[in-house]
Amino acid sequence: MHNPEQLTILITGATDGLGQRVATDLAGKGATLLLHGRDPDKGRRVLAKIREVTGNHRLYYFNADLASLAEVDRLAAAVGNSQTRLDVVVNNAGLGAGPDTQRRETSADGFELRFAVNYLAHFLLTRRLLPLLRLTAVQACEARVVNVASAAQRAIDFDDVMLEKHYDGMRAYSQSKLALVMFAFDLAEELAGTGVTVNALHPASLMDTKMVREWFGAPRTSVEEGANHVERLVVSDEFDGVTGTYFVQDQPSRAVEQAYDEKARQRLRELSLRWTEKKKQERP
Ligand SMILES: NC(=O)c1ccc[n+]([C@@H]2O[C@H](COP(=O)([O-])OP(=O)(O)OC[C@H]3O[C@@H](n4cnc5c(N)ncnc54)[C@H](OP(=O)(O)O)[C@@H]3O)[C@@H](O)[C@H]2O)c1
Repeated sequence: MHNPEQLTILITGATDGLGQRVATDLAGKGATLLLHGRDPDKGRRVLAKIREVTGNHRLYYFNADLASLAEVDRLAAAVGNSQTRLDVVVNNAGLGAGPDTQRRETSADGFELRFAVNYLAHFLLTRRLLPLLRLTAVQACEARVVNVASAAQRAIDFDDVMLEKHYDGMRAYSQSKLALVMFAFDLAEELAGTGVTVNALHPASLMDTKMVREWFGAPRTSVEEGANHVERLVVSDEFDGVTGTYFVQDQPSRAVEQAYDEKARQRLRELSLRWTEKKKQERP
């Protein structure tokens, strides 16, 4: 990856916190930005603000509630039908443990909400966008998927993936984030040799965002710090060809052990394919 002005970058959850900051910085460098959000009014406001601050007019807004796989499908179709290239997908949107960490919530499709939004929606979105990413990698030599995960990770209990037996918001958040790391490793293997690289990162701890303020109260780091690490993975040529890696900020690091268990990854992949395909047939 070299000149940001030539790149088309999709960022999920670009309407607040880390995603908005990364979008603003990359727009400032001249990239074409596809900003995703779930509230059209907020999306329009954020887009107008980024345009005003950066002077960049190649900004496009896409709306989808990631708690609905039908909306994820429509988002992927809208991006795929409107773009001739897609250099980077930043899977950033996410929910924390929630204001009431003991209250289990479900998505429109009946999945545990954090698993659905933080992981399953991004699994489906990325898979739907693979044809465009692969095409871009042929034309531009490389395309990237960057999963914004977290150092908060917890092994998935395959007997209770939807946490119906033992729910806890922190556990829900942490297993969704490990799933995102496992997806990065798995997809990187699948795409080896195609020019599409897939990595995951923990951007920074307790950044000053809505999620952290709601969940922990006092933040410990700035959004800029995390954004810098995400942006490097998105554009820096030091990561050319680097794939299947979990970073803590800019350092290759070790995720929770389950991420290296091929059988666990295969199980997660098979379940995710089944859940996303099954729901597709049932969707209106
Ligand atoms: N903050 C940290 O210290 C920290 C540390 C490690 C990892 N992370 C990760 O960084 C990413 C960004 O988090 P943040 O701290 O910037 O949080 P944030 O300020 O709360 O932003 C979250 C973004 O995700 C969007 N989102 C949430 N639920 C959605 C849904 N159902 N459909 C569509 N979009 C949805 C939000 O949309 P709205 O604008 O409409 O709310 C917002 O744009 C997350 O994946 C998080 O897990 C954060």
